[in-house]
Amino acid sequence: MSAAADPRAPWWRRAVIYQVYVRSFADADGDGVGDLAGIRSRLAHLRDLGVDALWLTPFYPSPQVDGGYDVADHRDVDPRFGTLGDFDALLADAHGLGLRLIVDLVPNHTSSEHPWFRAALAAPPGSPERARYLFRDGRGPRGDEPPNNWRSRFGGGAWARVTEPDGAPGQWYLHLFAPEQPDLDWTNGEVRGEYESILRFWLDRGVDGFRVDVAHALAKDPDLPDIPPERLRRGPAAEGHPHFDRDEVHDVYRAWRRLADAYPGERSFVAEAWLQSPQRLARYVRPDELHTAFNFHFLLAPWAAGALRQAIDATIGSLAGTGAPPTWVLSNHDVTRHVTRYGGGALGARRARAAALLMLALPGGAYVYQGEELGLHEVEDLADEVRQDPTFARTEGADPGRDGCRVPLPWSGEEPSYGFGPSAASWLPQPGSWRELAAARQAARPASMLSLYRAALRLRRELVAPADEAVRWLDAGDGVLAFRRGPSFACVVNVADEPAALPAELLGASVVLASDALAVDGSLPAATAVWLAVEAS
Ligand code: GLC
Repeated sequence: MSAAADPRAPWWRRAVIYQVYVRSFADADGDGVGDLAGIRSRLAHLRDLGVDALWLTPFYPSPQVDGGYDVADHRDVDPRFGTLGDFDALLADAHGLGLRLIVDLVPNHTSSEHPWFRAALAAPPGSPERARYLFRDGRGPRGDEPPNNWRSRFGGGAWARVTEPDGAPGQWYLHLFAPEQPDLDWTNGEVRGEYESILRFWLDRGVDGFRVDVAHALAKDPDLPDIPPERLRRGPAAEGHPHFDRDEVHDVYRAWRRLADAYPGERSFVAEAWLQSPQRLARYVRPDELHTAFNFHFLLAPWAAGALRQAIDATIGSLAGTGAPPTWVLSNHDVTRHVTRYGGGALGARRARAAALLMLALPGGAYVYQGEELGLHEVEDLADEVRQDPTFARTEGADPGRDGCRVPLPWSGEEPSYGFGPSAASWLPQPGSWRELAAARQAARPASMLSLYRAALRLRRELVAPADEAVRWLDAGDGVLAFRRGPSFACVVNVADEPAALPAELLGASVVLASDALAVDGSLPAATAVWLAVEAS
């Protein structure tokens, strides 16, 4: 029996984890920003949806320059989101409903408002306070050129110059993201010790695990060399990079794994690492490192049968030998929502329905980003003045940034904020078309996206999750993905724009769920997926 088929297998091997983007999920106090009490009040939605766990994006005290990924205090709750008491109450309620909860850990950088960075600014070059970050002298006779040519992921250079306490122009510090997110120096023992203590703080409170933010960025080439110009572009990192995916990061994760393993109750880590190669990604989930990693190869695959199959095979193939389960994800708070990526409008929504059944039929775990169960699309027409993602300003609008996938959720009602909170306020405006997509409306409609997700998650527990981990591909026409798992489950996805017949060996099987109605002759219309129960042979 494989690990996933074993009912005693750890929860994270096949969990469906729902991503709560805290600012935009539910607002209890009416200030237009989501909060922990809001999440608590909507836990029933997650229970009814049928997910196993939730992941909360950062809710720690933060100036919110990067939506909370600029953490000023890792052991508290930002007053905008509530208190530690609210966190404990949310965790207790989630556990009471059988939902696990993981939190976000941001180890690559802190906020520039973190006490450590303030102390570094007040201390002289060469001090222990500066040694926690990456301070360097500038180049050029007056030191007014940055130490190297590295770029910020949000646009512009990756170095900012400080003014020394005596008022003179001073050293530079590295920030791979916004200037308000100075990078930590992970060769520094104090940094390592501090993060182990932060892990313990949340593990002691009872969290079930951590999502590790930019897990591939912590280690830097100590020489801080220039990057050849052709490698400066943004996008998933390739091997041999001076600040991404360096071998030294793995020592950090081995230490964390030992730490988490000493706690009872299957605590787990998921790595956020945007890498070009699935083989390199697999190194993060070796048996003594992190448990799982987000599968951005699947997320980035276009809606095309060959590309999707290639991503699935490469994922499963690269993990062989690690023992780690694959994971699957279609959207998150950093990318254009998949309804829009897949073409938008009715076509995008139809493909998104089929994609959900594909994702949830695959072995391992899956991530659902809040609002995808409602079929929300990217909000592409936000006014410049309301955009908050630093990418927008730092690229002077060339990159619209990630606000369009972060618009607060519609829950119910006729007027904004559509039940997001008790007032009309929402920190980003919601499109009027979301009235129809509100959760309460969809719950009452059997053909809605929400009803599809609920049915799929219920059937996944019964039919899909107990199947073994292997995917056995079947011969199907061009543009069709067809596979079996275990003795009695099959999934067929017609990715093409024309109808397709079911593979011959599935003709007698019974349909248990379809993303859209099948044709009367039993064929699959364009952009339709179906789950089948097959007689065991
Ligand atoms: C991760 C987060 C993203 C954030 C960045 C910097 O990629 O998902 O939202 O901006 O890290 O912390």
